Amino acid sequence: MQKPLSGKNIVLGVTGAVAAYKSVYLLRLLVKAGASVQVIGTQNSLNFIGRATWESLSGKVPLFDTFETKDPSHIGHIMLAQDVDAIVVAPATANIIAKTACGIADDLLSTVLCAATVPVLFAPGMNTAMYENPANLNNIKTVSGRNGFHFIEPGTGELACGTSGKGRMAEPGDILKKLTDILIPASNGIRWLVTGGATREYLDPVRFITNGSSGKTGLSIAKEASKRGGDVTFIGINVEEPDHCAFRFIKTVSTAETAGRVKELSKDTDILIMSAAVADFSPEKSSSKIKKGDGPLTLQLHRTEDILKSTIPLMKKSSVRIGFAAETDNLVENSTKKLREKELDMIVANLVSKEHDPFGSDINTVIIIERSGTLKLENMDKKELAEIIADKAVKIYMEKNEK
Ligand code: CTP
Repeated sequence: MQKPLSGKNIVLGVTGAVAAYKSVYLLRLLVKAGASVQVIGTQNSLNFIGRATWESLSGKVPLFDTFETKDPSHIGHIMLAQDVDAIVVAPATANIIAKTACGIADDLLSTVLCAATVPVLFAPGMNTAMYENPANLNNIKTVSGRNGFHFIEPGTGELACGTSGKGRMAEPGDILKKLTDILIPASNGIRWLVTGGATREYLDPVRFITNGSSGKTGLSIAKEASKRGGDVTFIGINVEEPDHCAFRFIKTVSTAETAGRVKELSKDTDILIMSAAVADFSPEKSSSKIKKGDGPLTLQLHRTEDILKSTIPLMKKSSVRIGFAAETDNLVENSTKKLREKELDMIVANLVSKEHDPFGSDINTVIIIERSGTLKLENMDKKELAEIIADKAVKIYMEKNEK
């Protein structure tokens, strides 16, 4: 059986706290899980665990000094910060957390943390008064607010200094689990079908009925889903395929064509997100260009298929169905009605007015409606919005599938 962290390169940062002895077990667990581990210690950590222990358990020379990395073809601390899969700092003292919060780089570990572009997990371990010191709590808040930085909370119990309280470093098994969840998210392999863009209903070979939807939100959701390890198909309705597209891209034009593709793919879909703006009416298409006569032109429009309504009965019960709504009046009331009638798990309600036109813009204000309640998100970048929608979709998926 493949080991969970096989092929992963991990930096294990060790600072000067008694819990360093527990990191010896953490190192063993990481190696057992298949990871290749480079230990970087602070000078103070050497007061607790010596070089020989790290070296014999990791099979690599542990590093303590910025200028210890000798390979002239690479800048050592940058490689350690950017060419690995993750950095775990265990135990993390108040000092290393404070240095990271302030961007201080005065030894190898703090320099690596300053240059890190990979996920970083801190496992604080210290005395209760130090942990609860407002400066430390503030620093934890600052660092955990940054992209890619995570913390595993210390436990409460007997501490090495003889007192009892919060500050005991998390157990090695829990640190390993948290790291694995960060590196291999539970959303791995979820099959997403996302639609975006605006349909075109042709009246003749040159003219069509459409709307102003750009497909930006749908594309951002597809990117997010793919970042989370999803198996993603995006149906771009009159949307250009982005460069270096990391997901399957299918281009469609009309409502009927889109309906066909969505229904065909829906049986193998875990999460469906219909962010596309679909025409509700379509004209009879003339095979040649309609010539202007002297009088007005009357178009006969027919109802198109409601893609969501006809797709949902084809999907697995455990799948997640998310729709979008564009409304000019009674936003919440009308969108909630669509949530119910289309049997959705969630609907993203967009208000369209003179003051607020979501089409084509990079910013949007929406109300997310779930059966459990509503959430208003104001003036959000569409990428940020996509993150929230993807998070919620995965959460509903986990609940429905009891993962
Ligand atoms: N939708 C669909 N098929 C259609 C029309 C809409 O699947 N023929 C989907 C949209 O992709 C969206 C949701 O239904 O996820 C709501 O779309 P919206 O245009 O807001 O509402 P409609 O259902 O078309 O109702 P109305 O136009 O009357 O508001």
